[in-house]
Amino acid sequence: MKSLTRSTALLVFPLLLIVGALVYARFLETPEISSAVARSSTEQILTTKSYKIPKTLQNQTEIPLDCNGYNHTGKCPNHQISLNNQDHRSNSTCPDYFRWIHEDLRPWSHTGITQETIEKAKPTANFKLVILKGKAYLETYEKAFQTRDTFTLWGILQMLRKYPGMLPDLELMFDCVDWPVVSAGQYNLDGGVDPPPLFRYCGNDATLDIVFPDWSFWGWPEVNIKPWGILLGELNEGNKRIEWMKREPYAYWKGNPTVAETRQDLMKCNVSEKQDWNARLYAQDWGRESQEGYKKSDLAGQCTHKYKVYIEGSAWSVSEKYILACDSPTLLVKPHYYDFFTRGLIPVHHYWPIKEDDKCKSIKFAVDWGNSHKAKAHNIGKAASNFIQEELKMDYVYDYMFHLLNSYGKLFRYQPSISDKAVELCVESMVCKAEGREKKFMMESLVKAPSNTNPCTMPPPFDPPSLHAHIKRKQGSIQRVEFWEKSYWEKQNLKS
Ligand SMILES: *[C@@H]1O[C@H](CO)[C@@H](O)[C@H](O)[C@H]1NC(C)=O
Ligand SMILES: *[C@@H]1O[C@H](CO)[C@@H](O)[C@H](O)[C@H]1NC(C)=O
Ligand SMILES: *[C@@H]1O[C@H](CO)[C@@H](O)[C@H](O)[C@H]1NC(C)=O
Ligand SMILES: *[C@@H]1O[C@H](CO)[C@@H](O)[C@H](O)[C@H]1NC(C)=O
Repeated sequence: MKSLTRSTALLVFPLLLIVGALVYARFLETPEISSAVARSSTEQILTTKSYKIPKTLQNQTEIPLDCNGYNHTGKCPNHQISLNNQDHRSNSTCPDYFRWIHEDLRPWSHTGITQETIEKAKPTANFKLVILKGKAYLETYEKAFQTRDTFTLWGILQMLRKYPGMLPDLELMFDCVDWPVVSAGQYNLDGGVDPPPLFRYCGNDATLDIVFPDWSFWGWPEVNIKPWGILLGELNEGNKRIEWMKREPYAYWKGNPTVAETRQDLMKCNVSEKQDWNARLYAQDWGRESQEGYKKSDLAGQCTHKYKVYIEGSAWSVSEKYILACDSPTLLVKPHYYDFFTRGLIPVHHYWPIKEDDKCKSIKFAVDWGNSHKAKAHNIGKAASNFIQEELKMDYVYDYMFHLLNSYGKLFRYQPSISDKAVELCVESMVCKAEGREKKFMMESLVKAPSNTNPCTMPPPFDPPSLHAHIKRKQGSIQRVEFWEKSYWEKQNLKS
C-alpha cells in the first residue's frame, strides 16, 4: 500500500469512501517491540519540559464570531485577550495513550527540528500550517480528498481557541492521505539523517509518521457523521436502547467490504443455509443511504447485537471509536495500523482479539465463549464503552493535540516564519463562507470560550523496560486467547 503513489491513492480512495468509508485503526505487533524498544534503549528518554503554565488566562467570556466584520474587511479579527487571575491548574492526569506522544517525537528528541527536515516532509504534504503567537497561517499545496483538510484545520483552530496563546511558535506539514509514508528503515536513527516530521492520521510499526486526530472528530459531512462531541452523547443514549443481555447473540458488522481483501475474506464468515459462524455481516451502501437520509446508517442505532466486529479497511478506520462505544464486546481482527488513541487499548480488557488468517473459526469461538461467560464478556464491552466515553471525550482530543504540538514546538531549532504564500486562518475565514452540512458541523463543533482549566498533566514517557513489558503483556493476552481457541477447536473436532 505504502508504495502507492499519491495519484493512485487519490484514484482508489474516493471510491472507497463514497461507497463505504468506515475507517479504522490499530495496534502493537511483534515487529513494533523490536523497533520501539530499540529506539528507546539506544537513546535517552525524551525530556519534554512541561509547558509554561500561564499565570493568567482569558476570562471565560465567549470569543465573538464576527462574519459581518470579516465579510467587510476580509481580515481575521484581532481579539484582545482579557486576562484574569483565576487559578487554571488542571485536575487530571492525561489518559495513558498520551505516553505515545513521547515515542512519536523521539526521532527528533536529540537533534531537534530544523528547517531542512521540515522541507523534506513537503513532497507528500497537503498543507503547511504555521502557528505564530497563537495565530494560524496556512499554505495549501494540494487540496485533500473531500473535506478532510478543512475539518482537520478547523479542529486545530478550535484547540487554539480553547488554549489561546499557550503553544510555542511552530510549523507542521500535514499529509491527509490514508497510508503512512515515512519509512523507519530508511533513516538511521543513531546519527545520520533525520526523518521528516510528517503529520497524518495513522501509523504502523514500520513508519515514523506523527499521528494526529482525524477530521471525523469535527464531522464528516460527506457521509453525515456528526462532530464527535455530539455523537458521543448519542452513542451513550443509543447504548441504552437495548440492554446488553437482550441483544442478538451474534457478531455484527456493517461496512464496505470492497475496500480491502481482508474484508472480502471476512464476508465468507456470514451466516448461510449451510453454516453459521455466529456472524451477521452487512454491506453498507452509502449511495442509497445518502438518498434515504442516512436512516439505516445511524451509528447510535447499531448496538443491536451482543458482539461487534472491527476490521481495518484500506488503512485505519474512523469506525473503530463508534464500534467500541457500544457495550457489546468488539471482536477486533488483528490490525496493522494505529491512530492516536488505539495504542491505549488492551486486549481482552477492552476488546477480544480475532485472528486475521482464520477469521470464521476465530469469530465462532469468540461468540461461543462470550455466550457462555456472559458477565466477563459484558465487562469487556463496558470497559471499551467507558474508555470511549471517558478517555476519548473531546476535551482529551484537544488535550492530545495540545500536548503533541506543545512538545513538538519545543523541539524547534529555528524561528518559524510565514511566507507570502501563507494566508491567515481563523474561524471566520472558514465558517463565514461555508454552507450546508459543512457549516452546520462547524457551528456545532465551535469552541466558544477558552478553557478555564489547563490541559491534563502529561504522563511521563515509558522507560524502555516498562514499554517492553507493556507490549509483552498485550501479546501474552492475545496468545492466551489463541491457545483457548485452539483447544476449543480440538475438542470440536474430537466430537465430530
Ligand atoms: C469574567 O469577566 C466578567 C466581566 O468582564 C466578570 O463579571 C466575571 O466575574 C469574570 N469571570 C471570571 C470567572 O473571572
Ligand atoms: C458573508 O459572506 C458570505 C459569502 O462569502 C455569505 O454567505 C454570508 O452570509 C456573509 N455573512 C454575513 C454575516 O454577512
Ligand atoms: C475537574 O474538576 C471539576 C470539578 O471537580 C470537574 O467538573 C471536571 O470534570 C474535572 N476535569 C476533568 C478533566 O476531569
Ligand atoms: C449476510 O447474510 C444475511 C442473511 O442471509 C444477508 O441478509 C446479508 O445481506 C449477507 N451479507 C452480505 C454482505 O452478503
